[in-house]
Amino acid sequence: MGSQELNRQLVLEVVRVTEAGAIAASKWNGRGDEKSADAAAVEAMREAFNKLQIEGTVVIGEGERDEAPMLYIGEKVGAGGPKVDIALDPLEGTTICAKAMPNSLAVLAISAEGGLLNAPDVYMDKIAVGGGLPDGVIDLDKTPTDNVKAVAEAKGKSVEDMMVCVLDRPRHAEIIKELRELGCGVALIGDGDIAGVIATTDPKTGIDMYMGSGGAPEGVLASAALRCIGGQMQGRLLFRNDDERARARKWGIEDLNRKYTMEEMASGDVIFAATGVTDGSMLNGVHVTSRGIETDTITMRSKTKTIRRVQAIHGPDGRQ
Ligand code: FBP
Repeated sequence: MGSQELNRQLVLEVVRVTEAGAIAASKWNGRGDEKSADAAAVEAMREAFNKLQIEGTVVIGEGERDEAPMLYIGEKVGAGGPKVDIALDPLEGTTICAKAMPNSLAVLAISAEGGLLNAPDVYMDKIAVGGGLPDGVIDLDKTPTDNVKAVAEAKGKSVEDMMVCVLDRPRHAEIIKELRELGCGVALIGDGDIAGVIATTDPKTGIDMYMGSGGAPEGVLASAALRCIGGQMQGRLLFRNDDERARARKWGIEDLNRKYTMEEMASGDVIFAATGVTDGSMLNGVHVTSRGIETDTITMRSKTKTIRRVQAIHGPDGRQ
């Protein structure tokens, strides 16, 4: 895994990339058309990437080359410069955006070559908490009950005061039942588990932990975010059939049952950036006001742990 340092300019430059994706997707906000919203974000983000002084390889993107015309896995982007690996989700929460609901984001992570787990588009079992807790307080191999009790104790809270964020899916019925029987709160989200994981890092959200399965690419992106903000996360790939197992092997994953720490999913110096498409717990969405097109972006770097919030007003051409 790469441990080289990234160019410190890049953490500021990538803001233009997620801004472009978010602005493009926002034109489709509430239009009930996931595909067009995603396609607009992909195209805009790709164009913005190609202006950056990097030699980038997309390791987590829109899919494999034969299924995604742009920002596919393996695509080279950038105008030349240091070699970096890129994980991106130009529109995280396509359904959220189509329905004008909270927390859809344009997201990317960048590492030195080899720093991001080349996760195939399968599910990942995830558990995450925010910063300031003892190492090893969460463990994917323990039950939800044991994990909630351990985090409650570490936070000096009662189990009844804990709130766990879970994606609202039938596959999570057992976890939700167990958590409710335990007596803690369960914050169900319809989509967008990158925002769900990041919510654990901000006391204002009231979310103490994240649990359950979601996309593996989103797991790697969330790991990159927690590497910068602080927190702990573990993930394990979940396979539903041999085709998914074969895809993982193709991307160099040998131990299909491995439990990954966030440092193994996003290693070395990493950058994470996200711009809000719709308003959310972390960021405001794109708004067209009398001042112009307003965007809200967070950009951060694991090496320095600097977290910057960039609120921008773009001229009217920004949305064309
Ligand atoms: P999309 O942006 O691809 O629609 O993903 C939204 C999302 O909710 C992710 O945040 C999450 O990881 C994944 O879908 C969960 O998958 P599923 O909807 O199949 O449960």
